[in-house]
Amino acid sequence: MNWSADQSIELLRRDRAFDFSSQRQRWLAFREAMRRDRQFDFMISAKDLELDVSHGAILYIEDLNVSFDGFKAIDNLNFYVDAGELRCVIGPNGAGKTTMMDIITGKTRPDSGTVYFGQKIDLLRLSEPEIAEIGIGRKFQKPTVFEHHTVFENLELAMAGDKRVLPTLFAKLSGAQKDRIDEVLATIGLAEHARRAAGALSHGQKQWLEIGMLLMQDPHLLLVDEPVAGMTHQEMDRTAELLLALEGKHSVVVVEHDMDFVRSIAKRVTVLHQGSVLAEGSMDEVQNDRRVVEVYLGE
Ligand SMILES: Nc1ncnc2c1ncn2[C@@H]1O[C@H](COP(=O)(O)OP(=O)(O)OP(=O)(O)O)[C@@H](O)[C@H]1O
Ligand SMILES: [Mg+2]
Repeated sequence: MNWSADQSIELLRRDRAFDFSSQRQRWLAFREAMRRDRQFDFMISAKDLELDVSHGAILYIEDLNVSFDGFKAIDNLNFYVDAGELRCVIGPNGAGKTTMMDIITGKTRPDSGTVYFGQKIDLLRLSEPEIAEIGIGRKFQKPTVFEHHTVFENLELAMAGDKRVLPTLFAKLSGAQKDRIDEVLATIGLAEHARRAAGALSHGQKQWLEIGMLLMQDPHLLLVDEPVAGMTHQEMDRTAELLLALEGKHSVVVVEHDMDFVRSIAKRVTVLHQGSVLAEGSMDEVQNDRRVVEVYLGE
């Protein structure tokens, strides 16, 4: 087998067998990678990084637990999302919704349990950047667009989030890349604003631009936490359309408190309470669930 040094280092890093935090560690890892007699048992795990959704689900969370100073934020959580599904997650403050996203994206490490992306990728073995790289995008509440760049440039820069594209950024965009930007501009409804500075957009438009920036990386799974907070009703309707347009092409998990908004996009709804699933089903089913009314909707 002919492995280049770069490939080997990448695999070692994935395998997390080495600490890359310092120059010295990097050098040691490089030397180790170059050893001819080394057994590359992790080659199997690198190959496994191919997303396999042949059983239908893209996300498997099982028996998940995490405590913060003795407080159980996630308590034996089981949660599954199908490939292409648009899932809404609701639940009272402190239910563990954001914490669940933190665990999926590698920001928080659970105490126990499993989190799989498709059948084969163990997310708990990957770092936060690796999880982003394999196709899990996250939209935080506060939009983080480059205010002084145009909408178009923001999307262009987001495409460069894929480091392999970076060198081409300074060259001319290829036809395919321009097409992709135009496609995303249409999806997020900002085609007419492509040449405007992102800083001049309304709050809602900035949120859509940020979703667009995530889409530039073509994520398999998109996690969106409270997307309509602070939006006007009109902006909420547009956001609903936008998220519905993603269904089928991407799997999307939306956490939101605004029940009118949730109702406008909901297919399957999961209610979290005290770190585990209280109810799951159609909007009608969960709304009429006595326990859900008690802990959440009846407030
Ligand atoms: N890093 C942390 N350190 C300590 N406690 C935390 C941390 N992250 C979350 N918590 C606690 O875990 C619980 C769950 O919080 P989380 O943010 O997941 O709730 P949520 O369902 O997103 O609530 P909200 O609807 O208010 O956003 C809360 O009690 C919170 O204070
Ligand atoms: Mg939250």
